[in-house]
Amino acid sequence: MSVARTPPARAGSWPGVIEAYRPYLPVSAKTPVITLLEGNTPLIHSPALSERAGRRCRVYLKYEGLNPTGSFKDRGMTVAISKAVEAKSVAVLCASTGNTSASASAYAARAGLRSIVLIPSGAIALGKLSQALIHGAEVAAIEANFDACLALARELSARYPVTLVNSVNPHRIEGQKTGAFEICDALGQAPDVHLTPVGNAGNITAHWRGYREYRAKGRIRKLPVLLGFQAAGAAPIVRGRVVPRPKTIASAIRIGNPASWRSAIIARDESRGAIASVSDRQILDAYRLLAQEDGIFAEPSSAASVAGLLASAKAGYFARLGRGRPLTIVCILTGHGLKDPERAIKSSQMPPTLPPSLTAVAKAVGLGRR
Ligand code: F0G
Repeated sequence: MSVARTPPARAGSWPGVIEAYRPYLPVSAKTPVITLLEGNTPLIHSPALSERAGRRCRVYLKYEGLNPTGSFKDRGMTVAISKAVEAKSVAVLCASTGNTSASASAYAARAGLRSIVLIPSGAIALGKLSQALIHGAEVAAIEANFDACLALARELSARYPVTLVNSVNPHRIEGQKTGAFEICDALGQAPDVHLTPVGNAGNITAHWRGYREYRAKGRIRKLPVLLGFQAAGAAPIVRGRVVPRPKTIASAIRIGNPASWRSAIIARDESRGAIASVSDRQILDAYRLLAQEDGIFAEPSSAASVAGLLASAKAGYFARLGRGRPLTIVCILTGHGLKDPERAIKSSQMPPTLPPSLTAVAKAVGLGRR
């Protein structure tokens, strides 16, 4: 299949992240652009969270769940898959807690490449598994956690002619930095504080690179403080040691030995930020609050950034940082809530089953008598 000269599929004027940020990305005129028009996700003001963050705080949500496969991974995948095609690769491989595999399999399908994905058996959300399957990936469910799957994927890619598209592939990080570019483009500057969930730590690495490059090019003047959040039962960076059996309901960030550990620490320290942990209870509270007060359905792992925002506000962090100045704060919502419908249902009351009777229905749904 020849993809090299196919013009990018366009809808409206957004051309996808490679065309939108071409001078910042490792592509040339010879790189075939494999895109599903990812990026350009909305930066949504949150009145509910602004109020909770404290006086003079303005909180925005970068809703990455609106990417083509429902997560931020598409930003990195468009670059990784385009470069794989340019390098004449015929197959791509990844280990995944779900979203990377959904994205890899979709972009590989688009490019006419084979995709192989290794997932921890029984440990990824159903929506994500359904994506890899329907896009035609060869899926292997491994009786091990994500960290072991990634080690296996690295070894396979060293021995067989397959391109590894986890975030250890530098093209992934390059693409994902466009998330930071878009935030700056929307605000006209960098935010004061940028909060993000941390799993394998690729995204925090990528965002920091994006902000630094934008400042080097004079697009922004100051850099944000980066705050990363791991789940308490899967918080190796916070604890300073590998977690052999990570545990959390936030399956996307159930990672005990992040590949980009060192660069996450650099991002944390250079930005004068922090990487902290939030409990599953805090994550689920933030998950419901987002859905019920902001109308935004993000997956539980995404809500880690909002849980971190609420905990930081409670601890007086923003008041100390702002010292009376207004603060612009951005939380990254990394993936869509529909990825994990089971969790949404478990977090809610099941609806009653009723006869088709006006009075019974009116009573059950709280409309009372008339
Ligand atoms: N949020 C979601 C929804 C994710 O899927 C991931 C990572 C993260 C946050 C953390 O990002 O790894 O760059 O620190 N998911 C990977 C996957 C590991 O396989 O889909 P990170």
